[in-house]
Amino acid sequence: MAAIAEKVRGSRVLLKSVAKEPALVKDLPRWVADAGDRFNPLGARRPWWNYAAVRAVGESLRPRDRVFEYGGGASSLWFVDQGADLTTVESDRAWFDDIREAVGAGAELRLAESDGDGYATYVHSIDQDLDESFDVIVVDGRERVRCGLAAIPKLKPGGRMILDDSDRARYSPLFDELAGWRPVSYRGLKPGIWSAVQTTVWTKPRRTDL
Ligand SMILES: C[S@@+](CC[C@H](N)C(=O)[O-])C[C@H]1O[C@@H](n2cnc3c(N)ncnc32)[C@H](O)[C@@H]1O
Repeated sequence: MAAIAEKVRGSRVLLKSVAKEPALVKDLPRWVADAGDRFNPLGARRPWWNYAAVRAVGESLRPRDRVFEYGGGASSLWFVDQGADLTTVESDRAWFDDIREAVGAGAELRLAESDGDGYATYVHSIDQDLDESFDVIVVDGRERVRCGLAAIPKLKPGGRMILDDSDRARYSPLFDELAGWRPVSYRGLKPGIWSAVQTTVWTKPRRTDL
């Protein structure tokens, strides 16, 4: 009964979203095909972002691109499938084990649980990597503003930083910090979620752009 009530509530939210943003209609067939709200992220083997964001990042990704990811999942499998050289840091042990099993030796996976340190080990896991060594950095886990800030020196000039759920107001300090970078925001449905969400991709200026 509770599940039916939840579905009715979700359907209303979805209809309202589509009425407000008619462009979302184009995502609906895909969203339904992805089993609506019964989506299994790891089974899908693609990032749990909206469809437009996945398409755009996929089109610009080159084989052997070095990718660092805060918050693993289906995106980890997808990056490995695309031939990326992937490093992922994950904060949830059980989820880490699931990713480890699915990815095998295809990526460097780091477990950094909070352990009362306010996610400092997680946020600063990237400190051990060389400056300007990543083509793509994904911020899609815990403490997104702090992770984005820690990642800035590690991204190559011309590289891209991806923030999922970038429409959340609490992430605005990262927008302020990256004000000189070129942002492109993608809005649309993502599997399993009943309303539109946003992903933002910034390109880090090259020295010649400054
Ligand atoms: C929204 S997920 C996105 C992960 C990934 N970047 C993707 O696109 O598939 C972000 C975080 O949620 C947590 N998470 C997601 N699904 C989970 C699950 N089924 N069990 C436990 N934690 C989960 C993990 O800690 C993960 O880092």
